[in-house]
Amino acid sequence: MASEGTQSRVIQAIVERRSIRHFLEASVDRSILIQALTAASWAPSGLNNQPWRFALVWEQDLKDQLAGLTRYSAVLKNAAVLVPVFLDRESSYDHLKDCQAVGAATQNLLLALHDLGLGAVWIGEILKNADKVLKLLQLPDRLQLMSVVAAGIPAHRNQTSHRRPVEELIVFEK
Ligand SMILES: Cc1cc2nc3c(=O)[nH]c(=O)nc-3n(C[C@H](O)[C@H](O)[C@H](O)COP(=O)(O)O)c2cc1C
Repeated sequence: MASEGTQSRVIQAIVERRSIRHFLEASVDRSILIQALTAASWAPSGLNNQPWRFALVWEQDLKDQLAGLTRYSAVLKNAAVLVPVFLDRESSYDHLKDCQAVGAATQNLLLALHDLGLGAVWIGEILKNADKVLKLLQLPDRLQLMSVVAAGIPAHRNQTSHRRPVEELIVFEK
């Protein structure tokens, strides 16, 4: 176990990862995405039901059409690839637990992309148009949109973020 001052690589990646919303005009290899999706798929899930599903959107025209479904359109347009993330209702056993599992897979995806030198952001705002996303991608209703992850080569890594002090987050200790 890492002792204080010698952070593990996992903790370092968790802390260093930032939401990236500006990308270089550079392509990303499919094999990198497959590595990241493989890491995503190693998330825990209730009964190990693995309810997550992913779409890969590379074509500019499709990215532009997805961009039209959110106010974060600039982020989606400029990403190298968009990954709509779904919950497959057919493998679902408990909706809340399945949403949690897809969330865990999504965080794995973000962390893996970061580890592989890419940047990404979790776009939830597009959920208001979940039905239109399904229609556009011609996917069946059994897939419930959970987010769209926009990924690419980061244009910079200047973005900062903050977190509440952990002591404020502990609501019970005995
Ligand atoms: C459920 C969820 C929905 C989010 N939706 C959006 C979004 O629609 N647009 C966006 O730019 N960022 C979105 N984010 C990213 C957050 O804004 C970001 O994670 C937060 O500000 C903390 O910044 P950090 O990721 O750099 O630590 C979302 C994150 C989560 C977990």
